[in-house]
Amino acid sequence: MKSWQFGDGGEQGTDAQVLATYLAPLGVSLRGYPVAAAAAPWLAPAQLDAAGQEQLLEALDGVFRELQQEKGYQERDLVVLYPEHPQLAALDERFSRIHIHEDEEVRYIVDGEGVFGFVLADGRQLEVTVTAGDYIHIPAQVEHWFRLNAQRRIKAVRYFSARGGWTPVYSERALQRFPRP
Ligand SMILES: [Fe+2]
Repeated sequence: MKSWQFGDGGEQGTDAQVLATYLAPLGVSLRGYPVAAAAAPWLAPAQLDAAGQEQLLEALDGVFRELQQEKGYQERDLVVLYPEHPQLAALDERFSRIHIHEDEEVRYIVDGEGVFGFVLADGRQLEVTVTAGDYIHIPAQVEHWFRLNAQRRIKAVRYFSARGGWTPVYSERALQRFPRP
């Protein structure tokens, strides 16, 4: 985790323990898993073809096996976003609005950066910038959003038990003001 900030010019920081106290009531958890050295050849290029994606996933499967034991996930796949991605604007529009899912959202960031946002019980909104080595678990029904930052580049593994629970259900709630480089 690189940093966090509240919306509308609120508090910001880099302390993971303080962040955990804000996220714990939502059931959101953030952990660190060092990215396997064997993955390096597939992290350097911004884009990967299907074979490269599968090789990267295999290089990272130590984490998958650990999570299978702990959480019972059955599948994993890879999200690869980069500045020239043809659907980048559409994907950003789809996930950068406040939404929930019927299923949990589980991501392991292995390259680049991204920003997850959350609505706390008191209505405050909090954004967290995640980087390589961050693993985030968002339970079903938790209001959140996701956006890329100025890097406009991320590689993240998704872990799941069943497909189909990720359709965003949008909230009527308005997003507060966050700096968006
Ligand atoms: Fe989501």
